[in-house]
Amino acid sequence: MKIAVMGYGTIGSGVVEVIRRNSLKLEKKAGEEIEVKYVLDLREFPGDPMEECVVHDYKTIVNDDEVKVVVETMGGVEPAYTFVKAMLEAKKHVTTSNKALVAAKGAHLLEIAKENGVNFQFEASVGGGIPIIRNINSCLTADILEEITGILNGTTNYMLTKMAEEGADFDEVLKDAQEKGYAEKDPTADIEGYDPCRKIAILTSIVSGKTVNFEDIHCEGITKITADDFKYAKKLNRSIKLLASSRQIGSNYVAMVAPYMLDSSHPLYSVNDVFNAVFVRGNVLGDAMFYGSGAGSLPTASAVVADVVEMTKNKDKHLEIEWSEEKLNLLDYKDTES
Ligand code: HSE
Repeated sequence: MKIAVMGYGTIGSGVVEVIRRNSLKLEKKAGEEIEVKYVLDLREFPGDPMEECVVHDYKTIVNDDEVKVVVETMGGVEPAYTFVKAMLEAKKHVTTSNKALVAAKGAHLLEIAKENGVNFQFEASVGGGIPIIRNINSCLTADILEEITGILNGTTNYMLTKMAEEGADFDEVLKDAQEKGYAEKDPTADIEGYDPCRKIAILTSIVSGKTVNFEDIHCEGITKITADDFKYAKKLNRSIKLLASSRQIGSNYVAMVAPYMLDSSHPLYSVNDVFNAVFVRGNVLGDAMFYGSGAGSLPTASAVVADVVEMTKNKDKHLEIEWSEEKLNLLDYKDTES
């Protein structure tokens, strides 16, 4: 199987590395060798093992019938949307790690994939390396998922952990997170909660089968949390976590993102540093929790490459993900607080 990787940054280069490192296992699972034929990027990579594979025009990939699977790790809605749409219309399977793209266009791209008899997958868009989308869609399919609550942003979880452990204030830990490469130069999406908001919108869409507009979700980040809040939380033996949560109430749903004080009995209480975790409550399963690396090059690439393997194995088959473009109207969280 010849594949193309669009975007050769942190995750894209991780995808190439995972395919190189685990090639024999991947070949066995996929039923054929997986080989990266193209890397699409605006830059050149002199001295890089993929140097010869770099292309700058996405149409080179669109027009190459040998490439049947495409990975999108560019980030942002455009030009990722234009490129992914063109790949699906050229009957190529696509997997993406791009939550902005999936939150904005997920149902639409699934429809285009269906029309063209190919697959659009996005396991890495939520929880990085934690397998949550496939689990919700298949392993937990017998359950009505009454609740999904996650720590879905590694950067802010790192910052809150540091504030708790060191009594540091917000600006100090933000600077530290930026120096360590967790927080971007413009950290807005993480610290204002927009990143976990997109992720819980994707999970709620998957669970409900309809489209949740992330802008409809009440979203509060961590910018107002102070060192004093942590002193108070410590006295009460509680931790402060930024939670992204979605609950099903009858046939309705409510979702929100906000910082919470968690009691030590809460399963997310001791999820620290850059780790992510997703707690689910099924009506027959009861409680389950998925924990692991929610970001980073290789963990995220692990989820992307798992999609590549699944799509290679099923290259002649359309795998249904139930998520329509019909809008889901959320209940107002204020009316449902217990
Ligand atoms: N900025 C995100 C985080 C990256 O910190 O979790 C992974 O989506």
